[in-house]
Amino acid sequence: MTATLGLSQRARWAAGQPISHLMHRALAHPELISLAAGFVDPATLPVEISQEFAAAVLSDPVRAKKALQYGTNIGLAALREAVLKRVCTADGDLGSNVSIDQVLVTAGSNQLLHLVTDTLCDAGDIVLCAAPAYFVYLGILRNLGVRAVGIESDEDGVLLEALEEELQRRQHAGELSRVKAIYLTTYFNNPSGVTMSLERRQGVVEIARRWSLEHPLYVIEDGAYRELRYEGADVPSLWSCDASRDLVIHAQTFSKSFAPGLRTGFGILPAELMRPVCDQKGNIDFGAPNFSQYVLLEALESGRFDDHVEQLRAGYRVKRDAMLAAADESFGDLPGTSWLSSQGGLYVWMSLDESIDTGPDGRLLDLSLQEGVLYVPGEYCYPGDGTKSRRNQMRLSFGVQTPEGIRAGMGALRRAIDRL
Ligand SMILES: Cc1ncc(COP(=O)(O)O)c(C=O)c1O
Repeated sequence: MTATLGLSQRARWAAGQPISHLMHRALAHPELISLAAGFVDPATLPVEISQEFAAAVLSDPVRAKKALQYGTNIGLAALREAVLKRVCTADGDLGSNVSIDQVLVTAGSNQLLHLVTDTLCDAGDIVLCAAPAYFVYLGILRNLGVRAVGIESDEDGVLLEALEEELQRRQHAGELSRVKAIYLTTYFNNPSGVTMSLERRQGVVEIARRWSLEHPLYVIEDGAYRELRYEGADVPSLWSCDASRDLVIHAQTFSKSFAPGLRTGFGILPAELMRPVCDQKGNIDFGAPNFSQYVLLEALESGRFDDHVEQLRAGYRVKRDAMLAAADESFGDLPGTSWLSSQGGLYVWMSLDESIDTGPDGRLLDLSLQEGVLYVPGEYCYPGDGTKSRRNQMRLSFGVQTPEGIRAGMGALRRAIDRL
């Protein structure tokens, strides 16, 4: 089929994404309780305040016309300034050694991840990914023909010794020049919920610097869930541990903290990467959605963005607690089962007994669908190479369902396991 269409290699690499497989199964069972989708809670989408912010932008004809016109490739200057200040403030950082010329607004942070990877990597290059990893990013790597190599992680994030060993292995294999970046989700990892400790953040920067032998070994820090913290103190970003600001790419998004429909994310990049990344972007869309950027600027400047994030945190905290309580209730007596309790984000990562196959072709997924519940098979989150892919884990999301839905979904999952 693909041969007759004359599709490109990249199109062929893009095929067969896990997300399509899951959507297909979900669509075939519209009645089911999805604990799979990483969507944000529809109940907390900022409908009224977005109306007000959009009206404010449109009420001034000069600003309205600017907002409805094409923007700039790099993004709205005032928004770039505001997000840089926000990240620096959260980090307790005065913002020295960095300027808004290093901030790029993109159509969601997924675009930033794609652009940066496309700018750094040729097919056959390698990105080291703390595993388990955000499976959509693993898809981006596959799509670009880039080899994803998993690095073992624990409850404090990526294991520094494992990272070091992998770099040594690649050096011995004569492949060090092909290792272009390390990818890490540093806050409430999707899927595991783990937040990387400050010591590990500092350690990763130190390792990246020491191994920047043939070219810079960049660290791509995905901070998508940073704003969604329900307890505990914030941790400075990994980006802030790189005092010279020349090795870490920090990606963030307004999708989780405000509204994914505005498709707005941003990156703070080493200065020398800005031009090549913007060149790539210029060939794609020459600017993220401009109207969205004006609306978000209004949200930030009005101070109501923070109120909204506070409300989100309160709502998600209840749902997270509902999922943890339901896990205790439905799985507490199941031998070999464990799960991680996260201080934020949208996910609970559950490991079942090693004999249970949670994979897309395993019986549990079918039985779960019959019981009316869907989860994300954990094996999607493991790169094909490096760390061992595990087949007994599930990513469970509490973002979309109500507490009652979460409880019902967890009960259905337990019934499916009992039927195995
Ligand atoms: C870890 C992580 N990074 C990035 C994204 C991309 O989000 P967006 O493109 O909406 O900013 C997501 C979305 O779920 C995510 O979970």
